[in-house]
Amino acid sequence: MRTIINNVLEQLESFRPGTLAQVEEFRVHMLGKKGVLTRLFEEFKNVEPAQKRELGQHLNQLKNKVQEAVKVHKEQLLLQTERGPKEGDLTRPAHFADVGSRHPVSLVQREILSIYERMGFAIAEGPEIEDDWHVFSALNFPPDHPARDMQDTFFIHTDSDNPVLLRTHTSSVQVRTMETQKPPIRVVCPGRVFRNEAISARAHCIFHQVEGLYIDENVSFADLKQAILLFAHEMFGTSARIRLRPSYFPFTEPSAEVDISCNICDGGGCNVCKHTGWLEIMGAGMVDPDVLQASGIDPEKYSGYAFGMGVERIAMLKWQIKDLRLYFENDVRFLEQFGEEVP
Ligand code: DAH
Repeated sequence: MRTIINNVLEQLESFRPGTLAQVEEFRVHMLGKKGVLTRLFEEFKNVEPAQKRELGQHLNQLKNKVQEAVKVHKEQLLLQTERGPKEGDLTRPAHFADVGSRHPVSLVQREILSIYERMGFAIAEGPEIEDDWHVFSALNFPPDHPARDMQDTFFIHTDSDNPVLLRTHTSSVQVRTMETQKPPIRVVCPGRVFRNEAISARAHCIFHQVEGLYIDENVSFADLKQAILLFAHEMFGTSARIRLRPSYFPFTEPSAEVDISCNICDGGGCNVCKHTGWLEIMGAGMVDPDVLQASGIDPEKYSGYAFGMGVERIAMLKWQIKDLRLYFENDVRFLEQFGEEVP
């Protein structure tokens, strides 16, 4: 009997089950009706009384050990199957990988460009690192214009007469296009621009613009107004009205700031439009003859219009986004609200 007890102890020591079924097999083998321990307890009845006390203790300890081992192995295996690799279970629902969505700024930029593409505009792009000529001088900015100040513009080199800087607007691409193409020119220029601004809900040091330029013979302010109205209808719906306010830009004459009727209150007055009924969407004007001349286009023969808008601003108006910083924080909960998943 003692040899059997030692044998069971050895088996217990070396028992390393890989599956729950093996644990159950072991339990039946030891504790089942015909199990090793059950038989030992039966034999125990025949043990001489002198040995009963000591053997009885051994047997009970053994039984407890076997029961404990069965319990522990079972628990460990259950934990492993909960945490461990799931490949084995073909009935589990498939795990779908999260799919990203297009950024609201990209969505609106694409929409703006597609509206102008349908009007016959081509897309032109230029460098983000620019020189003073293309950002300021060719666009008629006087040498002492505040935009040239370090406080407003990020300069890279200032040690020549044509400093290198991060473009502050995409109007620089107008200049590059006029320098390399002959009229008729009809382009829209999307891109990132940089300004030395403190970041707040309404201002950021990086944002996106779309610039537009149309140059041909006999281009008039009426053409500009018509193109803006068409854009407003496509972007904000056919009930949108436009209003042009006289303004000033160094590169256009005359210049205007363009408003649309508030898309929330339809012009009646609300918080979004600060009770004016109008929301500003872009700057525009007729290209100044000096600007045409500077880029090698004959202002006697050609005229043109230009406009420029902020993409983030249009997206804010379209979706009533209150804080510009949201675009750059990359919080997926914000970004995934604007539709169109990208597979
Ligand atoms: N470049 C101007 C800005 O960044 C926007 C602008 C205004 C562009 C009028 C134009 C324009 O082409 O005609 O604020």
